[in-house]
Amino acid sequence: MKIGILISGRGSNMSALADAVSDGRIPGATVAVVLSDYAAAAGLKHAADRGIEALAVERRGRTREEHEREIIAALREREVELICLAGYMRLLSPVFIEAFRGRILNIHPSLLPAFPGLDAQGQAIEHGVKVSGCTVHFVDESLDGGPIVVQRAVPVLDDTEETLAARILQEEHRAYGEAVALVVSGDYEIVGRRVITTNKINRDRQDEQDKKSNDE
Ligand code: GRF
Repeated sequence: MKIGILISGRGSNMSALADAVSDGRIPGATVAVVLSDYAAAAGLKHAADRGIEALAVERRGRTREEHEREIIAALREREVELICLAGYMRLLSPVFIEAFRGRILNIHPSLLPAFPGLDAQGQAIEHGVKVSGCTVHFVDESLDGGPIVVQRAVPVLDDTEETLAARILQEEHRAYGEAVALVVSGDYEIVGRRVITTNKINRDRQDEQDKKSNDE
């Protein structure tokens, strides 16, 4: 399955996904392109250094529709089947979402549905929660509201926004690879809002655990 990763900035989640693909943790996946709406995004250079096609499609005076049309065309040309938003700072229009319905993932630095939108880590500290974390979810028309694939919890300690963001980021890097591996495997169903892994995955996990405990 060809993956397209959309970024706007440093691209650490993009790098973590690229590592997961090259380490064989996402069987059957390749990263076809890393695309940024900002030509100076550090993540584009990291992608190019890894030998991944790095493409800038800037908005530059065009309408949102024109800009998105070019991005969609670039993704289709490369036969991208799964889009991973990784710090992509633009909201996708309903036209974009419809073009790739059920095939767009996003990572968000909170345990959704808490703290959607910008500055999720700051919102968590401000609210005084004791646990936050990260969420990988399918993208639909709602703001950070699509079906949840993977979540990981991170305790909130005596944190600043920066220290909390850094600890959440470590979990993001693990969570995104896990979520993409599940979606690429196709071993899930979406029932209402719930992403349910099919029995096969559960059986395989059980077999692996049984094997480990037999070996011990
Ligand atoms: C991450 O915290 C991600 O959850 C959010 O934007 C940040 C992107 O960081 N959507 P990076 O560019 O992947 O390093």
